[in-house]
Amino acid sequence: MESMGALKRTHTCNDLGLDDLGKECILMGWVLRRRDHGGVIFIDLRDRWGITQVVFNPEVNAAVHEKAHQLRSEWVLAVRGHVSRRPADMDNPKLATGSIEVLVDELRILNTSETPPFPLDEDVEVSDTLRLQYRYLDLRRPEIARNLVLRHQALHNVRSSLNEQEFLEIETPMLTRSTPEGARDYLVPSRVNAGKFYALPQSPQLFKQLLMVAGMDRYYQIVKCFRDEDLRADRQPEFTQIDMEMSFVDEEEIINLVEGMIGHLFEEVHGERPSLPFARMGYDEAIRRFGTDRPDTRFGLELVDLSDILRGCGFKVFQGALEKGGLVKAINAKGCGTFSRKDLDDLTEYAGHFGARGMAWIKIKEDEWQSPITKFFSEEEISAMGQALDAQPGDLILFGADTGKIVNQVLSELRLELARRLQLLDSSQNSFLWVTDFPLLEYDSEAKRYNAVHHPFTAPKEEDLALLESDPAAVKSRAYDLDLNGNEIGGGSIRIHSPALQQRVFKALGIDETEAREKFGFLLRALELGAPPHGGIAFGVDRLLMLLTGSSSIRDVIAFPKTQRATCPLTEAPSTVSRAQLTELHLRPDWKEKEKGKEKE
Ligand code: AMO
Ligand code: AMP
Repeated sequence: MESMGALKRTHTCNDLGLDDLGKECILMGWVLRRRDHGGVIFIDLRDRWGITQVVFNPEVNAAVHEKAHQLRSEWVLAVRGHVSRRPADMDNPKLATGSIEVLVDELRILNTSETPPFPLDEDVEVSDTLRLQYRYLDLRRPEIARNLVLRHQALHNVRSSLNEQEFLEIETPMLTRSTPEGARDYLVPSRVNAGKFYALPQSPQLFKQLLMVAGMDRYYQIVKCFRDEDLRADRQPEFTQIDMEMSFVDEEEIINLVEGMIGHLFEEVHGERPSLPFARMGYDEAIRRFGTDRPDTRFGLELVDLSDILRGCGFKVFQGALEKGGLVKAINAKGCGTFSRKDLDDLTEYAGHFGARGMAWIKIKEDEWQSPITKFFSEEEISAMGQALDAQPGDLILFGADTGKIVNQVLSELRLELARRLQLLDSSQNSFLWVTDFPLLEYDSEAKRYNAVHHPFTAPKEEDLALLESDPAAVKSRAYDLDLNGNEIGGGSIRIHSPALQQRVFKALGIDETEAREKFGFLLRALELGAPPHGGIAFGVDRLLMLLTGSSSIRDVIAFPKTQRATCPLTEAPSTVSRAQLTELHLRPDWKEKEKGKEKE
């Protein structure tokens, strides 16, 4: 190993070009590839910015050439040399530096490297766990490194948009009380307050509202949030929000401001300004046409409600669902009449993952509707269905019959699956959609109480206030979500700023006055002390970046993400801790004994 000594880097590995021919330069970086061509050694030297070919030629410098024989992948080098034109037919148009090479006069080996556990210079399948265990090597790969660069640019862009509009970036506590965003909390035991716990924030929701009471007027923060929930490709236990709140605003002002911010972001980072204003759709319409509150509107295959047509039909499964107050809906999979038995079985199995107890289908032929269930329908029913579904020869109709919730869930997932199979998902298209007019509350039939659809601080629509006690499910809220290609990238609302109304909403949620005072007393008190009307929104940075970079998982845009089981293969977190640490935190370390007990049972 050698020191850099007096060598100072003059260029990055992406800088040099034909304008620099003959110049002396000093580059530093890693050995990506090494080729030994008949006595001349070529190294692709890599840094964060790019790749430059450096050449060790015995005719230029025999000693340095001799030294270069030992170089291996991922060794760390400093080279001093001269920029030279590559032989004409050796140009590499894929590299910014592809017309030149550096003829090396001096080589210093700053560090060696063992053979990496996976090659970094080719596109090989590497297990996710291995990639995350050696994330610092994985991040050397240009595709992943590029995502971090883009993330930096995106956040810089958002910060400057908001700074220009007089937003203040204000930090809020990480050790706090739990805010109900609908997930489980990560808890932190307190050493100095025996038996008490902090919660890591699921979002800064209450603090940003308190900042409005404090007169800060326009707040934002790029902030970590923590939620202990089951993980998916678009969910991490800790994730980042662009969190915003504003005073004296209504929905329109927030939506306008956000469209400007997102438009600017896409223009700069993606190279294309989305057309403004973004489309909007009410929640009821989204559920009716797409079965979900975050529809992907890049393609059709909409859901059609056949309940009224089929109410008296002879097919028991449909009739039974309708009698129990459920729905029968269908999708016309245009042109899929050629699907095989196996395709249909696969789709039925897929539907089963989302709660379907079956998936009736009909193939539309020139002269008949081919299906085991056609016989159950009258001519009028067939003709009315055909019209509602715009059924043409060659089409395939897929049915769902069950409770409204299951039918919508199943058909919305089938719709996406069909789009994937039919390659209807155009990744070059950015289809933004605001979903508005959400219900304020939803009934949880297991817990037998209402939950907040957004969170308990979301304002009801003024015209529905009278229904809050008599018909809670009918009350709409002043909430809005922003979706991009079927992903929820942001959500927010106008908040309640009247203490009396906040109490009424708590009550509708089954939280009585004592519990409300105990859990949210500080908020209620603040609302009593001159809270301005206010509202805001929060964006999922990781999801936004996943879409901006065309990644298939949010893990690809996070430097050190967690696995599906919320672990970090690199640091091996979470880990066990010593008995002494537990005792100090007033936690009884008896779970190990319990586990042992279970094993014996
Ligand atoms: P919400 O809970 O909708 O709203 O969160 C806002 C956005 O954060 C992203 N998001 C996630 N991203 C990755 N992993 C997760 N586990 C995860 N959970 C949420 C989503 C989502 O749209 N306080 C309110 C905002 C407000 O009302 O202003 C809130 O947190 O993209
Ligand atoms: P069965 O009468 O159970 O043989 O079902 C006849 C057809 O109806 C089969 O194609 C099933 O997959 C389908 N089917 C059964 N239950 C449902 C349901 N809840 N929704 C839609 N199709 C169903």
